[in-house]
Parts: sequence; C-alpha cells; structure tokens
Amino acid sequence: MQVYVALLGAVLQLDLALSLKDGCLTRRGQKSFPSPETTMKECLLYSSASCCTANFTEELVSPVTKVENTKWDICQPLSDRCETYMKRVECFYQCSPQAVHWTNPNYTAGVLHVPVCVSFCDSWFDACKDDLTCAKNWLTDFKWENDNNQCQHDCLPFSTMYTNGSDLCRSMWGSSFMASSSEDRCLQMDDQDDKVLSRILCPSSRSKSTAPSQEPCHQSALILDEIFPDQEFWDRLYSSRIFDFVRKPITEIINRWKQPRIALDRRALALVLGEGATGLQSSQLWILAMRFDASIH
Ligand SMILES: *[C@@H]1O[C@H](CO)[C@@H](O)[C@H](O)[C@H]1NC(C)=O
Ligand SMILES: *[C@@H]1O[C@H](CO)[C@@H](O)[C@H](O)[C@H]1NC(C)=O
Ligand SMILES: *[C@@H]1O[C@H](CO)[C@@H](O)[C@H](O)[C@H]1NC(C)=O
Repeated sequence: MQVYVALLGAVLQLDLALSLKDGCLTRRGQKSFPSPETTMKECLLYSSASCCTANFTEELVSPVTKVENTKWDICQPLSDRCETYMKRVECFYQCSPQAVHWTNPNYTAGVLHVPVCVSFCDSWFDACKDDLTCAKNWLTDFKWENDNNQCQHDCLPFSTMYTNGSDLCRSMWGSSFMASSSEDRCLQMDDQDDKVLSRILCPSSRSKSTAPSQEPCHQSALILDEIFPDQEFWDRLYSSRIFDFVRKPITEIINRWKQPRIALDRRALALVLGEGATGLQSSQLWILAMRFDASIH
C-alpha cells in the first residue's frame, strides 16, 4: 500500500500534459480512426474528423428511409423536424470522434450512457411528438426479418410511446444515451460539444484532495484511447507487479485493456478495477500506467 501511495504522489506531481484524444468505436465496416471527409452529404459537423465515411452519410439524406438495417419510415415517413433530430443522434453515434469516450464496455461497437442535455431531449421529443413509432427501444423492440426491422406492436405517436424528452433519450437506443440535467456537462450534438467534452470527462474534484478546484483538467485527466499499447508493454506491466494492490487479478485488467482499440473509458476501467474498492480513481491508475510506460522507454 505504502509503495503505491508514494508512487502515486510522485506521479501526480508530474505535470503530465494529457490530452483527451478522440477515436472511433470498433465497428464492422467503419473507420478505425477519425479522419477528414470532404464529400459528406450529412453530419457535416464531424467532417474535419469523422468516424463515418462520406459514403455512409448518403443514407441520411432526406427523406431518410433506412439507416444500415433499420427502417426509419416503418410506420410512416418521419416529419422533417423529427428526422433532423434523429439524424443528429445518428451522426453522433456513427461519425463523432467523441462517441468512443462512452464505449459500452460490454459491446464496443456501441455507446453507454452518453450524457445528452435534457434540453436537447426535450426538443427532440417536441419535434417528434406527432410522428409514429411501433418500438420504444429501437434496439430490442422490433422484430427482425431478412435483416429488416418489422413492427411487432402498434404504431403510436412518440408522445404516447415516450413520457417526455428524458424518457425518449434514455429509451430509444437502449442504454446508449441518458438525459443529463447538468447543462454544462452534457452534449447538444452540436458544435459546442467539443468545449463541454473536457468538462464532462475530467473528473470533478470530488476526492478530498486539497488541490484547488480550478486545477487544470489535464492534471487529473482521463487518458482514454490515448495509446493502444503493444504486447510488449503489457508483458512488462504484467511482470512489474505495479498493480498488485488492485484487488482484481491483473490478468483480468490487462485482458480487457488489450482488446484491440477498446477505448480506455472510465467506466470500462471502473468495471475492471472496482473504483471504490481501491479508493483510487481510475484516472490515477491510468496515470500510473502511463508513468510506468514512460519509465521503461
Ligand atoms: C457506399 O459505397 C459502396 C460501393 O463502394 C456502395 O455499394 C454502397 O451502396 C454505398 N453506400 C451508400 C450508403 O451509399
Ligand atoms: C455487462 O455485462 C455484465 C456481465 O454480463 C453485466 O453484469 C453488466 O450489467 C453489463 N453492463 C452493461 C452496462 O450492460
Ligand atoms: C419524464 O418521465 C419520467 C418517467 O418516464 C419521469 O420519471 C420524469 O420525472 C419525467 N421528467 C419530467 C421532467 O417530467
């Protein structure tokens, strides 16, 4: 224990200029890393660093009938207003280089609990309230035939299917999104998202540390998909016993981190490390790992 406390202290004094690097979800047929796309038809918000191809965005040109295998006009074509919001959400998921920060640890092609602003959810709900849908959860409530979604329930107005905007956000795409009412730490799926991203991802100073609360984010920043270490790194880490104090077996941690291109997401880390169990924040653990990496190069 003492060893790691000392180590951690030393590490935290280093002014590590950590950045919140973006990446892409690991999805079949999608790009591995964001790159500019000059001929996008939709989702232009992400054209300078996009995880989707320009080609994909052709599916999102109005009127949208089908995106990948999911028919959007399954009850009737969506209204323009509703479609606009559906597109913003779809563009975020498919094209945003930020989505990777919320990689679902159980399903790395998907996101988990992306904090969407309640105000966005409410506008989305309002825009779609008179449109029809036969599924509340579009991931699980359709019947799938020949790779196409089919209704297995009646078509209902969104305003009946969903209670309100928050319900829409946290239900339509399973647990991908949540409605966040902390307005400076949530996404609007617009050009302001870049600015709020670091506020969302940098852990607030909820630890009892004496560090001033305006401490620049990079001091305690999460390193997300900063690096995809090679096998050698993991071998050295494994033999170093540096994480011996962690209650979970180191192999479990390493095996999870080793998955190709898995985002080193805070939730993923918490999942493997058990944040509370060690009293360490996952970000601190990761800094430790980085420090270790630096020390052996
Ligand atoms: C993308 O391009 C491929 C050919 O490279 C084509 O078959 C496919 O239909 C295109 N997808 C869209 C959505 O336009
Ligand atoms: C991930 O899978 C585990 C084990 O099946 C489960 O307990 C956990 O709730 C899942 N987490 C999410 C976010 O789905
Ligand atoms: C939205 O609906 C949920 C129930 O689905 C409810 O718990 C919540 O309080 C509602 N939010 C608002 C702002 O009305």
